[in-house]
Amino acid sequence: MNGSNFPADLASLDLVEEIKRLKKELNAVILAHYYQDEEIQEIADFIGDSLDLSRKAAATDADVIVFCGVKFMAEVAKILSPEKKVVIPDFKAGCSLEDSCPPDQFAKFKAKHPNALVLTYINCSAEIKALSDIIVTSTNAKKIIDQIPKDQEIIFAPDRHLGAYLSKVSGREMILWHGSCIVHEQFSEKELVKLKVNHPNAHVIAHPECPESLLSHASHIGSTSSLLKFTKDHQGEEFIVLTEPHIIHQMRKTNPSGKFFDCPFIDQAGCTMCNACPYMALNDLEKLYAVMRDAATNSKLDSNWRNDFGGGEIVLDEDLRKGAEGSLRKMLELS
Ligand code: 13P
Ligand code: SF4
Repeated sequence: MNGSNFPADLASLDLVEEIKRLKKELNAVILAHYYQDEEIQEIADFIGDSLDLSRKAAATDADVIVFCGVKFMAEVAKILSPEKKVVIPDFKAGCSLEDSCPPDQFAKFKAKHPNALVLTYINCSAEIKALSDIIVTSTNAKKIIDQIPKDQEIIFAPDRHLGAYLSKVSGREMILWHGSCIVHEQFSEKELVKLKVNHPNAHVIAHPECPESLLSHASHIGSTSSLLKFTKDHQGEEFIVLTEPHIIHQMRKTNPSGKFFDCPFIDQAGCTMCNACPYMALNDLEKLYAVMRDAATNSKLDSNWRNDFGGGEIVLDEDLRKGAEGSLRKMLELS
């Protein structure tokens, strides 16, 4: 339960049934990223990568979007569907890439390259989206870069590893911001090599947020949905998975006879550490229930509420929302 410290009376509730009931009451849709807990994946109406989730959020006819992912993903839902109520189980579910790109510093960096087009990975704040020309995800980034005139200077932010990978595959030099993902950066190359030796027939599949030292071992590199498709297309085979390990739940469902090995993190003392995304892990079934319960209770109140577990409704200043919408709509148009 990730330490939510819920009162004992919650333990007596059938949370799955309660969430289903609240979903009807609120006319809500539950969207979840592949990195969420299995329990959340099982109850979600839709599971996807960042691009799928953005599209779904823009197209849903539900009144309430309950977003199980990290905060920037829920903000994207609000930016694209401002008339909907968007709630999130825990506002502390951030992202190291977002943290690595403070808007004031990024504005100064951008000012140093006045002729550059600002291409930004969706893992960033609404403020950074408002400073950007086009947003990309790891699913559509190459396709979008290929549509930009060859003589156009490009800034790519905030992920330096994804930026370096995209420069390589698209043959375009880009001016890179220096952010990174604390999850994809930490898989141990030493442990990866051990896994490769012990499972010589396994495909190494990797998310492009990994550094080049890890990507160089991979036979398939892609977004979460691309990795999932690769495993589905290779029934019964073996895979060493270099991305957040909760996606393996879906991989097992779509390839039941496949074998999946996640790569550990090793700390400086040589101890194996948890390799899950600590931000995604903040969401759990209890917090999901609590935010839906409180959305139902607070429906007539000021939208700027937070519950005792850190959940609440996404509220964006309208100028900021409009500023961020342009670069996101451009992405949807080009992908
Ligand atoms: P995807 O868009 O590939 O799902 O990636 C999201 C993410 O946060 C990866 O760390
Ligand atoms: Fe952010 Fe990395 Fe977690 Fe993805 S895995 S949400 S990039 S910290």
